[in-house]
Amino acid sequence: MNRIAILVALGLWLAAPSGVAVAAAAKPVVGDIRFERKTKGDEDFPPAVFPHWVHRVNFKCYVCHTKSVGFEMKAGSAAVTMNLIEEGKFCGTCHNGKRAFGVSFETCTRCHRK
Ligand code: HEC
Ligand code: HEC
Ligand code: HEC
Repeated sequence: MNRIAILVALGLWLAAPSGVAVAAAAKPVVGDIRFERKTKGDEDFPPAVFPHWVHRVNFKCYVCHTKSVGFEMKAGSAAVTMNLIEEGKFCGTCHNGKRAFGVSFETCTRCHRK
């Protein structure tokens, strides 16, 4: 292998487990999914973390994995934004202060954490 091929392979190896696999490795039971930011300009703010397991024990899969809520069974698919959440889409289907805690300055870090 030449130098570039080795660097590319190393890059892929480092990039591949980012987020999902790393978080899953740290907490295999919880199985957190670390969201990838799809928007620009807030890179310093930690990404949202989705604790899949907490939700899986509370809801059937197709509550979320359905066209109306919009999550695919593939981490990194959904282009979630705060505006969409506050319009009641994606996480905001439930995180509206009724079915589950809503968006407020007290709750930012429940979803956004390092
Ligand atoms: C409360 C909502 C919710 C429920 C209930 C739920 N999921 Fe998910 N699931 C998500 C979200 C959000 C993602 C991440 C999607 C993304 O990043 O675009 C996800 C991702 C996944 C993935 C992809 C994981 C990966 O690493 O790529 C699989 C597989 C999956 N879910 C299966 C299930 C199964 C099976 C059930 C039922 C036992 C279930 N989900 C229940 C919200 C849910
Ligand atoms: C119910 C979970 C949840 C709560 C509560 C929440 N967020 Fe988010 N937020 C998300 C998700 C999911 C995304 C999309 C993934 C990402 O960019 O981290 C997001 C995206 C963002 C972004 C990226 C830009 C944008 O507008 O989408 C910022 C900045 C942000 N949130 C700030 C906040 C602040 C500040 C609070 C508290 C006032 C907050 N969030 C509360 C889930 C949440
Ligand atoms: C189908 C409804 C539903 C959807 C969709 C949903 N949640 Fe939740 N979530 C809940 C409920 C119910 C709880 C537990 C009640 C509470 O803490 O208010 C919860 C709890 C949580 C918690 C706290 C878990 C803990 O350890 O206590 C976080 C963080 C969270 N959700 C983030 C998210 C994010 C991020 C999304 C979108 C990617 C999302 N949720 C989508 C219903 C939902």
